[in-house]
Amino acid sequence: MIKVDIETEFSECTAHAPASTANLGPGYDVFGLGLDVLEDIVTVKINKSPKAIKNNLKIITKGHGKKNIPNDPDYNTSGIVAKKIISEYNLYNYRCLIEIEKNIPIGYGMGSSAASAVATAISFNALFGLKMDENKLLDYSAEGELASAGVKHYDNIAGSLFGNFVVVKTYPRLEFIKIKAPNDLIAVVCVPQIKVPKKKTEVSRGVIPKKVLLEKTVHNIANACSIVAGFYTQDMNMICNGINDCIIEPFRKKMIPGYDKLKKRSIEEGAMAFTISGAGPSSIAFLNSRKKGLHLAEVMREEYKKLDIKCETYLTKPSDGSKIVSKK
Ligand code: HSE
Repeated sequence: MIKVDIETEFSECTAHAPASTANLGPGYDVFGLGLDVLEDIVTVKINKSPKAIKNNLKIITKGHGKKNIPNDPDYNTSGIVAKKIISEYNLYNYRCLIEIEKNIPIGYGMGSSAASAVATAISFNALFGLKMDENKLLDYSAEGELASAGVKHYDNIAGSLFGNFVVVKTYPRLEFIKIKAPNDLIAVVCVPQIKVPKKKTEVSRGVIPKKVLLEKTVHNIANACSIVAGFYTQDMNMICNGINDCIIEPFRKKMIPGYDKLKKRSIEEGAMAFTISGAGPSSIAFLNSRKKGLHLAEVMREEYKKLDIKCETYLTKPSDGSKIVSKK
């Protein structure tokens, strides 16, 4: 157990963590991209107690998605992260209150659970002076994904924590590679207002076959390499040529009404690439012009209107990642 000894009697810290998209087609569980569009805001307040308290954590939720997240720390993304940190750093001598302002839609493929987890981890790190390195922050934040996905996956976490494009490796050990996204990268995220199952990520992970043909793996690896090379050389064509996935998309698209049509139309109307955002049901188009992006957003809304489904569209650029906005 790591011992933390700080003088603070009462202190609070507020952090913002942005939405993100994961996978980018072939990079399942490996690629994350921070999106500069919506962010969750987390404030952690701590109060020193004269003696250790076992259940020293309370959660309050507010904002758009307030109704859809549990306040019980055992089932809340932020709660799971906080409990793990409290236990490993022995912080039971503090009463901790977490206030979550939930702005990112929950369960729609924009890294909502990751954002709250990240903002919680960086707040605890700052408040208690835990001096976690980036790998530790990534790992603690990913604990929160257990609540929504049933497993620790790091792609959304990495995108939200660090911003820009991140490759996460977990074998043989946890490592990540951050690459700045090209300045002209524009993404349009289309969020259909359909009912999503509880624990949607877990459900949509369940539809993917456990065994994959070698030939398909080869296609996806080649495309993934094109994406990484494209980010590395800041080449939008190379990135977008790689955003093609023959393993996950064929199964998950069945959970997204009108997906094939939306994809076809988006490509015809100027998208340089189109895929499912994270585990869906949002989809994401990539292109290099804001003007074309605005047009595309309109096209997407039009397509969903034909299906009598409301949808939100977000025109976004890559984000610079999470940040502490105040500490006192
Ligand atoms: N890589 C994860 C998945 C992302 O596709 O299940 C979830 O947003």
